[in-house]
Amino acid sequence: MQSTIPQSGPVRAAQPRIIPPIKIQGIKSKLVPFIRENARWDGKGRWFEPFLGSGVVLFNIQPGRAAASDHNPHIAGFYQGISRGTITHHAVRRYLEKEGQRLAKEGGAYYYEIRDRFNSSHDPLDFLFLNRAGFNGLVRFNSKGGYNTPFCKKPGRFSKAYITKIVNQVYAVERLIRDNKWCFETADWRGALEGMRDNDFAYLDPPYYGRHANYYDTWSESDMADLAGFLIDRGTRFALSLWYENKYRRNDTIDRYFSGFAIHKHEHFYHLGSTENLRNSMVEALITG
Ligand SMILES: C[S@@+](CC[C@H](N)C(=O)[O-])C[C@H]1O[C@@H](n2cnc3c(N)ncnc32)[C@H](O)[C@@H]1O
Repeated sequence: MQSTIPQSGPVRAAQPRIIPPIKIQGIKSKLVPFIRENARWDGKGRWFEPFLGSGVVLFNIQPGRAAASDHNPHIAGFYQGISRGTITHHAVRRYLEKEGQRLAKEGGAYYYEIRDRFNSSHDPLDFLFLNRAGFNGLVRFNSKGGYNTPFCKKPGRFSKAYITKIVNQVYAVERLIRDNKWCFETADWRGALEGMRDNDFAYLDPPYYGRHANYYDTWSESDMADLAGFLIDRGTRFALSLWYENKYRRNDTIDRYFSGFAIHKHEHFYHLGSTENLRNSMVEALITG
């Protein structure tokens, strides 16, 4: 029988919802309640999340013990920095005030200067800056692994209020990391899941299959086959987020690889433009085993 994530004990309800400082395409902010309701985890053991992305699921599910990872070293590195205390909300404020002022004075050219600097030094605070000043929260890397998201011009980009919002997001994550036993790693999902033991649970959110891919976001049918094979061979307990269908197509890999598992569906709407007839729906799936 399906049990839901308990609201007390190792997994606590998160009120209000935690918004992560890093944004990424495919972020599951709106799906956290659906994931929380349908993931069949008893709260024992560790929570493994090898496709961490922004971290929004981890930060809102709040397991007591977690192994969080992503093969994008800049994502894992940012949260590792918070864990180790090399990135603090104070440091983020100082950094954003300084760099935000220069951006206001020098405009888009300064964004591209920081982007070049980041592509040679990989400073996690530059990553945050680019993430929050770049186009639509898009994290995109070119074929050589260089960050190539364009600038998103917006008046008062790093206003006082915007900086405070980001600083508060970093502070919330700092406190969660301090209060829980979480580790962050740069790893491919295969390596990350090797460490799983009997009571552990994996929440999996790979890149969208069949969508436009970039350097850290490629996901092929053979990746899907490997993941399904791994879960079945090991008898891993898991919840896997996949898109199920939209107006035009259905994700046929679900039937091919996960037909024997419970499939929970959730429809949500998004706007492509300003008018009601540009409203599109997407059905998301959570596969549990
Ligand atoms: C759909 S996003 C995850 C979004 C995340 N759940 C959130 O709500 O923000 C997929 C993530 O998987 C990572 N990724 C892609 N391929 C990977 C692989 N082979 N191993 C580990 N992580 C991978 C990407 O860097 C990206 O951060």
